[in-house]
Amino acid sequence: MKVYKEFKKRRDRLASILDDSVAIIVNSKESIRNKDCHYPFRSESNFHYISGFPEPETIVMIFGGKNPKSIIFCQPKDEVKEVWNGVIIGPEKASKDFLFDEGYPLSAAHKLIPKFIKSKKIFLLPSSRIDRILTPKWFEINNKLREDLSEILDDMRVVKNDFEINLMRRSANISANAHIQAMKLTKPNKYEYEIEGEILNQFFRKGARNPAYSSIVASGINGCTLHYVENDSQMKDGDLLLIDAGCEVGSYASDITRTFPVNGKFSFAQKEIYQLVLSAQKAAIEKVKVGHFFDDPHREALKIIIDGLIDLGILIGSRDEVYEKELYKKFFMHRTSHWLGLDVHDVGKYLSKNNKSQAVKFTEGNVLTIEPGCYIRPSDHVSQEFWGIGVRIEDDVLVTPDGHDVLSKNAPKEIKELEEIIGISNA
Ligand code: GLY
Ligand code: MN
Ligand code: MN
Repeated sequence: MKVYKEFKKRRDRLASILDDSVAIIVNSKESIRNKDCHYPFRSESNFHYISGFPEPETIVMIFGGKNPKSIIFCQPKDEVKEVWNGVIIGPEKASKDFLFDEGYPLSAAHKLIPKFIKSKKIFLLPSSRIDRILTPKWFEINNKLREDLSEILDDMRVVKNDFEINLMRRSANISANAHIQAMKLTKPNKYEYEIEGEILNQFFRKGARNPAYSSIVASGINGCTLHYVENDSQMKDGDLLLIDAGCEVGSYASDITRTFPVNGKFSFAQKEIYQLVLSAQKAAIEKVKVGHFFDDPHREALKIIIDGLIDLGILIGSRDEVYEKELYKKFFMHRTSHWLGLDVHDVGKYLSKNNKSQAVKFTEGNVLTIEPGCYIRPSDHVSQEFWGIGVRIEDDVLVTPDGHDVLSKNAPKEIKELEEIIGISNA
């Protein structure tokens, strides 16, 4: 029951922001994979955030004002369906166990929702999924009073409390351990999917039932494709292996990337690039502090990577020229950070509300990734020893009152540590 109090607290907080308005939040439908088979169901993140209720096609209404309350519309009990698909919670138990003031069967929504909203202002999420469940006709009477709920929920979700941080720590620890096991099993001639299998095995064995996103297990030149997910190449002696993989715990994501040599020994060129990205990553992490701007870590990482690539003769020109002409984007084409939470690319503003040309500042309880990278495709202008090197190093970082805490710190990233671990299950 303790965990449901946490969800009720969030609804109470939302109600206090809503004044006399009402918020309506809907869970998604199941998605069909192919005939009679569904993708594993996962609640829509905002719906999970305010309810913790695990069933699809459910509607929650939260009323602000003098008599705040929250109600739920869900599937009714059905003995026949339950024989096939397991227990349906039902409106009565839903309201009692999940701490709603009232619970109704979904079929009552078309009558009750128009009555409940009358001429109130309604806050809705702009997701297309919502309109597949809510009937737009319900809102015709007060269409002009429709407001966007996402701004309120995004601001709530971007600051994590201890309950959420605890889940994110567990998620990061399970993922860090999976990365270590993957390193131990890596050796030349194995296939990328063997390593992917080990990562999923470790997630499941520790009770994390979902990856937070499709794992990237990319050897050699595959590491230069940012969203490579085929994971079906044979790993070659001399390749690097880039693994970007994280699980979900309590629906909270971790997002970790590690890069290491398949044969356990960095070549000279691989070491140069790896050390450069690692220095940039560490310096970027040091910029994570209350009051610093969201883009401070990226600026720092970029500065170090630009200088390093100029020193190695991979980029030609002065730092200013490379920066202004964005020549670095050939090798470092993505940003260093995104918010992390219920969604791997979590909600939350990146730009200040009052000054859209300025990044937001960090506050205590923010969680973000720090993930600079460097990807070198074969090119006439680059010495051949660097071709096919793709390196990204990604950690999950919590903003604390006096600095930061790297939630994913258990995943090794120093060259010496990596060289010691790789392949030790195969020795
Ligand atoms: N794994 C997705 C990302 O790193 O943003
Ligand atoms: Mn990632
Ligand atoms: Mn990421």
